[in-house]
Amino acid sequence: MKKAVLVSVGFLQLISFISCALDRSQFPPSFLFGTATSSYQIEGAYLVDNKSLNNWDVFTHLAGKIKDGSNGDVADDHYHRYMEDVELMHSLGLNSYRFSISWSRILPRGRFGDVNSLGIEFYNKLIDTLLLKEIQPFVTLNHYDIPQELEDRYGSWLSPQIQQDYGYFAEVCFKAFGDRVKHWTTFNEPNVLVKKGYLIGTYPPSHCSYPLEGCRSGDSAIEPYLAAHNIILSHATATSIYRERYQVNQSGMIGMVMNSAWYVPFRNIPTDRSAAQRVLAFDNGWFLDPIIYGDYPPEMRQILGPRLPIFSLDDKEKLKSKLDFIGINHYTTLYARDCMFSHCTFNISQGDTFVQTTGERDGVLIGDPTAMPDFYVVPYGIEKMIMYFKERYNNTPMFITENGYAQASNKDVPMKDFLNDTERIEYLNGYLASLSTAMRRHADVRGYFIWSLLDNFEWLYGYSLRFGLYYVDYNTLERTPKLSAFWYKQFLNGEKVQK
Ligand code: NOJ
Repeated sequence: MKKAVLVSVGFLQLISFISCALDRSQFPPSFLFGTATSSYQIEGAYLVDNKSLNNWDVFTHLAGKIKDGSNGDVADDHYHRYMEDVELMHSLGLNSYRFSISWSRILPRGRFGDVNSLGIEFYNKLIDTLLLKEIQPFVTLNHYDIPQELEDRYGSWLSPQIQQDYGYFAEVCFKAFGDRVKHWTTFNEPNVLVKKGYLIGTYPPSHCSYPLEGCRSGDSAIEPYLAAHNIILSHATATSIYRERYQVNQSGMIGMVMNSAWYVPFRNIPTDRSAAQRVLAFDNGWFLDPIIYGDYPPEMRQILGPRLPIFSLDDKEKLKSKLDFIGINHYTTLYARDCMFSHCTFNISQGDTFVQTTGERDGVLIGDPTAMPDFYVVPYGIEKMIMYFKERYNNTPMFITENGYAQASNKDVPMKDFLNDTERIEYLNGYLASLSTAMRRHADVRGYFIWSLLDNFEWLYGYSLRFGLYYVDYNTLERTPKLSAFWYKQFLNGEKVQK
């Protein structure tokens, strides 16, 4: 293990070819710098210590769902190697670590069974080990995975019953960990969860809806909106519980994390400009407007009419618990082209927005491509995204909860080909510089997390994409630092970095 810990000064010199400098002192001392992961993607130990099957355990075991036929049964085996992983974080000099709690480890049967003390024990040990190393836990309560029993019994996010069940799970976590956890997020990327789970059907529970051919239509075409509605109210339930019973004593913050791509009008014409605004509202405003302002964005009401659920007076009361910060997962920028008033084929993944999104215009890409489809390197996008949130949500505090770069992988590519990841360094440098510009423009951003600490299970892509600062050998599970790990350490150490 020691081998993986960063001690090599020679390597550091290798990457100190400075031109346009970026350094830690451009950010406030209290700024959180970390890495992010999620339970299903790294923990493994999928049936250890009373954990039950969750929806991703079941889904990945179905033939043909995951590109390389893999699953998260073992993943990075972080469940057994968490001490080594915390040591890696410490050696980088992180002051925070974002991870998620597996619901099916804590409540294997949801509210239908008992709290699993072994699950509680695992996260207690992780949190205590982090704090010993002065790394603040930044905890996600839901990062896509839920106990399968909740899906089988009542259809999970499609039923209002989930609101109480989620609130119960959240309360178990506040009670068990809230004395030490000062940053909670209720959901990771609910906009992705509902689009992929209920619109295009590529994530569990694999439901698809109109306008996709052969999918649910008529009344059932409301599924993405219904699932989102229950998620928003689940957030409100958990946040109300936190505010009423825990926040004063525990003095933490609670927020929600969105997947936030930036959109540039395809052509500089009014219809494309409003298409870009529309897709942003459908992407982020869908969740954040109700939570912050009490109702869905007007653009959504106008297009969806009665397909968009209504918040009752009780719901509106609960929504008053709002949030304390917005978590932003930002990776890419795309063009947005209007398809409502002009003829074009709109992307199904954009649902009912009547917007086509693309990374290409007149044969020219919006930024360098990466191994992840639709993820382009466009550093100015993060500044635009932050300024958009600053304006729309009155400078609510923000954290960049994910930003990172993928390398394409397969069994035949040797480890050495992944270690010299200068493209990742360039990507991170560019995005951090643009983030610091937004902060100079008075955006209240309080932290930045790189996705990810380790290479891990990348959902539909399995192990064929590597996002880690550390390379993981999936045969031995050994972790090896990439050049980007040295770069991050150097930056956090206060040295000037840039290529
Ligand atoms: C966002 C998700 O939160 C995370 O789980 C995923 O691995 C990264 N993006 C990269 O796609």
